[in-house]
Amino acid sequence: MGAWIMEETIESKLEEYELINPPEDFVKQANINDPEVYKRAEDNPEKFWEELAEHIDWFEKWKRVLGWEPPHAKWFVGGKLNASYNCIDRHINKRGEKTAILWEGEKGDIRKYTYNELLEATSRFANALKNQGVEKGDIVTIYMPMIPEAVIAMLACARIGAPHSVVFAGFSADALADRINNAESKYVITTDGYYRRGKILEHKNKTDEGISKAETVEKVIVVNHLDNEIEIKPGRDVWWHEIIESADSTCEPEKMDSEDMLFLMYTSGTTGSPKGIVHTTGGYMVGTHVTANWVFDLKEDDIYWCSADVGWITGHSYIVYGPLSNGSTIFMYEGAPDYPDKDRFWEMIEKHKITIFYTAPTAVRAFMKWGSEWPEKHDLSSLRLLGTVGEPINPDPWWWYYKNIGYEKCPIVDTWWQTETGMILITPLPGITPMKPGSPTNPFPGIKASVLDDEGNKIEPGHGGYLAIERPWPSMIRTVYGDEERFINTYWSKWGPDKYMTEDAARLDNDNYFWILGRVDDVINVAGHRLGTMELESALESHPDVVEAAVEGIKDEIKGEAVFGYVILSSGSKEDEKLKQELRDKIVKDIGPIAKPKGIVFTDDLPKTRSGKIMRRILKAITNNKDEGDTSTLQNPEIVDELKRKVKELD
Ligand code: PRX
Repeated sequence: MGAWIMEETIESKLEEYELINPPEDFVKQANINDPEVYKRAEDNPEKFWEELAEHIDWFEKWKRVLGWEPPHAKWFVGGKLNASYNCIDRHINKRGEKTAILWEGEKGDIRKYTYNELLEATSRFANALKNQGVEKGDIVTIYMPMIPEAVIAMLACARIGAPHSVVFAGFSADALADRINNAESKYVITTDGYYRRGKILEHKNKTDEGISKAETVEKVIVVNHLDNEIEIKPGRDVWWHEIIESADSTCEPEKMDSEDMLFLMYTSGTTGSPKGIVHTTGGYMVGTHVTANWVFDLKEDDIYWCSADVGWITGHSYIVYGPLSNGSTIFMYEGAPDYPDKDRFWEMIEKHKITIFYTAPTAVRAFMKWGSEWPEKHDLSSLRLLGTVGEPINPDPWWWYYKNIGYEKCPIVDTWWQTETGMILITPLPGITPMKPGSPTNPFPGIKASVLDDEGNKIEPGHGGYLAIERPWPSMIRTVYGDEERFINTYWSKWGPDKYMTEDAARLDNDNYFWILGRVDDVINVAGHRLGTMELESALESHPDVVEAAVEGIKDEIKGEAVFGYVILSSGSKEDEKLKQELRDKIVKDIGPIAKPKGIVFTDDLPKTRSGKIMRRILKAITNNKDEGDTSTLQNPEIVDELKRKVKELD
């Protein structure tokens, strides 16, 4: 186990004591408030999940709850269902006129879809997709900002059995091209542009650039969101509003097998290009439906806001499939949290009487830095539950969130999960679990999480180890698209095929609460977004002046971690600010603005083992000005002090 894990253990130990009981009034009304649920799940996990699967509508019941041939799981085997039916059709009788999507644009314009309207819009677009040639099984790439059509597009794909692959709109053209190519996607759905901090982002241009590097694309569907002039390529590009005009307004949902792919979501890992995480239909719907209901305590009249982007797994599970399958009203916002001013979020919470708010710790840290005067301008008393996801939240921002946003009456659910897990796995249940600021508390009922050492032995409370999940769960990753070997090697080979390796380090405290210590692989978590060091390094190395590059995460007050680069230049290249700027631009172009390096250091060498491998542990310590530990296995130990000096000079 790396030295840094041990060190983090000592640091975070201090925060252990505080236990905050969920407010009594909340407990009384909570969907789940009897701790017996944990025992029931533990006694018979399969029976537990089977009972919960009854909360989803099936065209045909499953024949077996679980087929588990490690590491391959099939859930609700033989069952037939449709995700879009579960998110829309089944609500029509009871809540057809209820608002399903409440959307606010950055300029303040508001759009609403009732469930009836969502059914019509989704059905029309689903038929339009079919008319464009999309067939069951075709992977459709969705490259869209936060507008209602993004959700409609996802649901329409699900309706006709075409798995979607949503690419975050903030990603670069190259990132889009990689994902289209990997999925061999023939169809792309995009927009003309969108607003960010009052500026128009020319999204269609970026889409075109990406597609120019992708071989498979035949049709591009464009939403007219801004009404701005864009180039339409005849034969390839069609307007969303034109193709839905002639499309029928009813569309029979496909009867999908429980194990049919619902979507692909790309995420970063240790090596190579991003991997396409495959999620299937039945288990995913059961897992997200139930966690949304129990963790967020969804009730009929809630107005629920998850401020993530639909381009991430959080958007998939907890903007779209989880809440809509519960018949909730979801709120969506197009733009930036500080536009036109730093109280934009609080203004919208007040105006729309939002009751549940789920965001990232990085956002909370930014709000805290902006100051409590911004939320103080608004009445946030409609809120009854708060949540966080994506990275550890330190106790300071936790308390700030609890007091200034939740008025000390809202439980905070700190939810731990991953793109691969599909659903929340470690979290408080807000009507049951006493909270500890900084800890996601306990595994969800039915989930078996543990902290293991390299050999798979359980680690005693108080010590750091690897976070493992030791039992299959319904919405788990099924494979890495087109790369079964990578699926097995990454997640199921450390301790054998029946224990899932999360690639996170964690420890338990004496109350058996989990504390997440960070990633153990080469992933940097920037503001809750996963970036692989490999991808960042290849972006830098593709610059003609660069011979070798290494990238590490550096602690950042707001983002949690930021990107920090070490670059070896070819002889004759000039080490100047201009080149640094070019390197920054290169990363932004290849990956996207979230990856922009906080610092770059030019160097002649990197800390390497005798076999020439970069020692990540040492580079991480150098980057974060920590004790580098044992350097005796380095071929060039003198580089450590030299790099430390250079990093310090940048401060
Ligand atoms: O390191 C953990 C961190 O985010 C990683 C998963 O990232 P991603 O697949 O992009 O999904 C993010 C949203 C589900 C994890 O391996 N992480 C996520 N939630 C938490 C967290 N770290 C600490 N506390 C959390 N609540």
